[in-house]
Amino acid sequence: MAEPLKVGLAGVGTVGAAVIRLLEQGHEKLAARCGRPIEVVAVSARSRGKKRDINIKKFRWFADPVALAADPSIDVLVEVIGRAGDPAKSTVETALAAGKPVVTANKALLAAHGHKLAALAERQGVALNFEASVAGGIPIVKTLREALNGNAFTRIYGILNGTCNYILSRMEEDRISFDECLREAQRLGYAEADPSFDVEGHDTAQKLSILASLAFGTKVDPAAIYVEGISSITLADLDAAAELGYRVKLLGVAVRTDAGIEQRVHPTMVPRESAIAQVMGVTNAVTVDALGLSPITLVGPGAGGTATAASIVSDLADVARGFRTPPFGRPVARMTAIRKAPMQRHEGGYYIRLLARDRPGSAATIARRLAQQQISLESIVQRHEIRAQGSGQPGRSNKPVPVILITYATSEDAVHRALAAVRRDRVISGRPQVIRIEKN
Ligand SMILES: NC(=O)c1ccc[n+]([C@@H]2O[C@H](COP(=O)([O-])OP(=O)(O)OC[C@H]3O[C@@H](n4cnc5c(N)ncnc54)[C@H](OP(=O)(O)O)[C@@H]3O)[C@@H](O)[C@H]2O)c1
Repeated sequence: MAEPLKVGLAGVGTVGAAVIRLLEQGHEKLAARCGRPIEVVAVSARSRGKKRDINIKKFRWFADPVALAADPSIDVLVEVIGRAGDPAKSTVETALAAGKPVVTANKALLAAHGHKLAALAERQGVALNFEASVAGGIPIVKTLREALNGNAFTRIYGILNGTCNYILSRMEEDRISFDECLREAQRLGYAEADPSFDVEGHDTAQKLSILASLAFGTKVDPAAIYVEGISSITLADLDAAAELGYRVKLLGVAVRTDAGIEQRVHPTMVPRESAIAQVMGVTNAVTVDALGLSPITLVGPGAGGTATAASIVSDLADVARGFRTPPFGRPVARMTAIRKAPMQRHEGGYYIRLLARDRPGSAATIARRLAQQQISLESIVQRHEIRAQGSGQPGRSNKPVPVILITYATSEDAVHRALAAVRRDRVISGRPQVIRIEKN
């Protein structure tokens, strides 16, 4: 048997510990598949003495992950520390500069510095593999970079954050509010103590920036993404979605349009019968559209130590076999700056929920304002509440009336202009809820 591939592991937390376990459990099989064993030889973490459920004493210890990255005793560095800055960044840079391949699960690092790191890997002629950085155990990076690389991608969209999908699923299935679901997700360990990064869509945006780059050959640029989270979604929206044949998901969407690449993260109504609508709980899913290819949807675990570690081990197996591709699927010199399609020019169907003041002419005013922007309606649902006994007109109350509109394809700009006019007309109460519709 050939020499083992010697792994330096920077980080032995949830993912790092699972990498150690998987490499030990799969030792023989991996060696048979790759033609050589893969073995962790050295590790680094913040605290050597921390109680852990794996034994790290048998590995060489490095208090400084950068020193680990530079050490001649390792052939490849696995970075599972996390975050965009140091020590993760300098650890990865040091390994690449020393001519060592790198495997990382760090989406934040790739979103912020992916292009520069890919350039460094390319100059050094080594691999930079990051399957685990997007959708944990789902092999979407390899799918875009290798399996489907003969295809022209037109759109890629997915459920990339398990916390948000768990919250939306629980709200719908158990009829509980966003706040209650969030508290429960925190109790179960699905949501962070500070959940805003997840629920406001920023985690999804980092992952989408990596997928868009792989699909469209553009430089990773999370700043080019329009981001909106799920905290404003109510049970009324989920009920209306169900009634109208949709389900609400937080999607990251990247589409090639005539105006450039549109990248957006927002709550989205998807047809209830679509593959992506069936994905409930913490599970992730990604759908890929390419010319001449029916959409392909990959569904699976988006997080968790073992699922994420499986992607890392697969990346390590490529290194052990000597297989290498450009990190983002094409040479860095062929990656272009993103031509960002402005969100105002987004075109699609819209769900709009308004509270119309219950007085004559409200409905006509709303209809006129929409017509002025050439917005046509696919459906209208108006819910009159039964008036309390003895309070005047039968069947009517003075309370605002929920009105739900589904538009045919129109532009973001037109919807904003129509709703601004309706608000100026004072025929509605509060802010309208707007959810974009994504057709499959
Ligand atoms: N958890 C998941 O399900 C998941 C899924 C997909 C991707 N990821 C990505 O995988 C990476 C790791 O996530 P994780 O959940 O395993 O994190 P984690 O459990 O917090 O582990 C982080 C590890 O890094 C070490 N570390 C932190 N700061 C350090 C420093 N300054 N110097 C040296 N070591 C340091 C920690 O040391 P101590 O052990 O001594 O504290 C710990 O071993 C992140 O990029 C994350 O985004 C995670």
